[in-house]
Amino acid sequence: MSTATPPAPAPVSSAPVANYDKGLANTIVADTQMSFIDGAKGVLEYVGIDIDTLARKSTYEETVYLLWNTKLPSETELDALKSALRAEYEIPQGLYEMIRGMPKDAVPMHALRTLVSALALHDPEADTDGIEASKRKALRLVAKTPTLIANFDRYRSGKEFVRPNTSFDIATNFLWMLNGEKPTDAMSRGLDICLILHADHGLNASTFAARVTIATLSDLYSAMTTAVGTLKGPLHGGANEEVMVMLDEIGTMDNVDAFINGKLERKELIMGFGHRVYKAYDPRATYLKTFAQQIATDTGNLRLFEMSQRIESIVLDAKAGKGIFPNVDFYSATTYHCLGIKTDLFTCMFAMSRMSGWCGHCIEQLQDNRLIRPQAKYTGPHDVAYV
Ligand code: SDX
Repeated sequence: MSTATPPAPAPVSSAPVANYDKGLANTIVADTQMSFIDGAKGVLEYVGIDIDTLARKSTYEETVYLLWNTKLPSETELDALKSALRAEYEIPQGLYEMIRGMPKDAVPMHALRTLVSALALHDPEADTDGIEASKRKALRLVAKTPTLIANFDRYRSGKEFVRPNTSFDIATNFLWMLNGEKPTDAMSRGLDICLILHADHGLNASTFAARVTIATLSDLYSAMTTAVGTLKGPLHGGANEEVMVMLDEIGTMDNVDAFINGKLERKELIMGFGHRVYKAYDPRATYLKTFAQQIATDTGNLRLFEMSQRIESIVLDAKAGKGIFPNVDFYSATTYHCLGIKTDLFTCMFAMSRMSGWCGHCIEQLQDNRLIRPQAKYTGPHDVAYV
């Protein structure tokens, strides 16, 4: 046993006084070059390009390239990304077996979180460090997530698996696998636009969670597992499902006023409204509102859109003065419903798109990393006797 005197403790550094910011609403923890949000003006840009322009003119694959490379691709660069993604659409046979072992009534976001995590078991590069390996894993995750979601739904519906079709883009391929038939161009384009709108959004809760995970130098699959689990919450990505549940519960236009006024009187949250950053109309909701009206008209679901409009009108009368407006989830609910997506798959659709933003943020984090470890204010006792 050494008798040497232990070295004197290092002097406590004059650490800056920590500030208390519950919910981190006023704390910047990273730089990003991917999305810019002006919450007061209701502006969202991906790498400086307005989200409305991208929704109208871009595609999900082009948007993924933009987010990951902070510039739009040339035609050759876009074709190369599309080919690389399509080469990774297929999932390992073990994942199909895993889906077969799942309860048919499993909550889809539980299934997705589990399957995303399991992808690591079949990727020899799962624990390969470095930016280039992470970019290859990001490609696999974006390419394979649609296959996981669609084939889980096929299985739970008692249908045969449908393998991915590498001649289709991501949106078309998803609907092909989900329904077992090629979708119309309008349906493909509708989903493609939803994927563009949901791809990235600054340091939202699930993106922050992913950054915390990758900042420990854990692997990208672990970070994506964290992100899927975080998105599931009804205060975050889970809200789109709750909006559809609310619309179904209301049922008809005649019930809207009493239902919504009742919730407001009871000070209950109205799903699809409010936002930590936007204190104006969420520009994604602006686009989706117009799109929802069109697709609801085309698919005989105008009732849903009209009910949504009435809900918006009542909530804005009561809450716009407090900066509460529709967010991305309010009209995406009607849109996904009109695209034939089951309600309990809505948040999986969000995850499918946001996989690109999450991976992009993890690669940004690795390029300028520091372990993310905030403080907690101790409010417990001191000098307690040990009995
Ligand atoms: C997403 O961060 C992102 O970027 C997320 C996202 C992304 O792309 O990643 O944009 C996606 O998650 C959109 C948000 C989806 N969530 C919902 O629609 C759930 C309903 N919304 C609320 O839970 C709420 O608006 C939050 C959680 C989204 C934001 O809440 P904050 O910033 O913590 O604000 P708060 O809860 O402190 O609310 C301030 C006041 C409160 O009233 P008071 O206590 O001051 O009297 O506004 C009220 C709240 O009660 N309020 C609402 C409301 N949202 C806020 N009242 C009724 N209905 C609502 N929806």
